[in-house]
Amino acid sequence: MGRRSKEKQAQGEMDVEEMAKEIVLSDDSIALEEEEEYVPPAPGEEIRLEDLEGVGRITAQKLRSAGYYTVTDIAFASAHELAVILGSEERAMAIIRAAQRLLNKGEEFITAKALFEKRKNLEYISTGVRSLDDLLEGGVEVGSLTELIGEFGAGKTQLCHQLAVMVQLPRERGGLGARALYIDTEGTFRPERVVQIARYRGLDPEKALENILYARAYNSDHQMLLVDEAKKYIEKYNIRLVIIDSLINHFRSEYPGRENLASRQQKLNRHISQLHRLAGLYNLAVVATNQVMAAPDIFFGNPLKPAGGNIVAHGFTYRVWLRKGKEGRRIARIIDSPKHAEKEVAFAITEDGVVDV
Ligand code: GTP
Ligand code: MG
Repeated sequence: MGRRSKEKQAQGEMDVEEMAKEIVLSDDSIALEEEEEYVPPAPGEEIRLEDLEGVGRITAQKLRSAGYYTVTDIAFASAHELAVILGSEERAMAIIRAAQRLLNKGEEFITAKALFEKRKNLEYISTGVRSLDDLLEGGVEVGSLTELIGEFGAGKTQLCHQLAVMVQLPRERGGLGARALYIDTEGTFRPERVVQIARYRGLDPEKALENILYARAYNSDHQMLLVDEAKKYIEKYNIRLVIIDSLINHFRSEYPGRENLASRQQKLNRHISQLHRLAGLYNLAVVATNQVMAAPDIFFGNPLKPAGGNIVAHGFTYRVWLRKGKEGRRIARIIDSPKHAEKEVAFAITEDGVVDV
């Protein structure tokens, strides 16, 4: 009962009927039950979460507030993850199976030929640098996770800026005529740099800036929240590239030392599956940067290794290692790739952005 009604009641001004009305209205759950709220399907989706077998209105609401908006989100979720929201792993599994049945219409397998045809239609975002595009066999692949690895000053952030512009170009010039979403964890995003790069690429700098959605991630939880939030913007704004610069600096500083390693890796794993889902579901490219660290256990060869261990190594589809070369040049190499030849190419960073040498 509200404060004003209590006063009124104390003053004897309220009749019984008025009091009854007040009780019902001040109880939120009752008021909510009364109005049947229709939640339409998420943008671009035909099926509502509520249409899934075993999902009622309350469950659908719970799922949505945990960042699962579409049937596809559910189909790609792990039972373990959903169990936290749904109470039991069995229930989670049943709902995930229902979503999967709806999505692939009962067909679990496709022929390699069908997969081959599908891969022929893959899209790429040009890096704007011929040598790097050659290295990547077309540019940054849509639907996949690409990792830019390197020491400080190697050019990771510069390449992120450049890609955020390149994705905007029309297809005939290597872009996708789309927008980028930029999650900055280190505070190194510079709109001024976007202006320079856009100008060089023949885009209106003002428009180029408007086509980049930017957020600063303050810690690892916030970073993960932003990825969930991104789903709300992707279709509305035609976002085809999500950039995270950098992937794990927050995770590293919040979970220091051996004693925190397991929890850090577990959380990082969840973050990477979030990114996989985003790339797969919305058919966009994810690009993230990663630092290198000294590898005390390596006596021959490269004394540095990418941070994040196996979780990151296995999580990313393509890993590009950037390093500084002679005379201000930069060298790029692809590591651990299922499809690329081992080779190195050179590029440069100038006022115009990332360019061929
Ligand atoms: P960390 O984030 O520190 O790990 O490094 P990073 O790999 O992100 O490096 P970043 O991409 O920030 O590269 C910075 C380097 O780019 C600088 O050291 C410069 O050499 C070069 N650079 C950045 N802006 C310009 C520019 O306007 N002109 C020229 N010529 N070089 C630039
Ligand atoms: Mg950087």
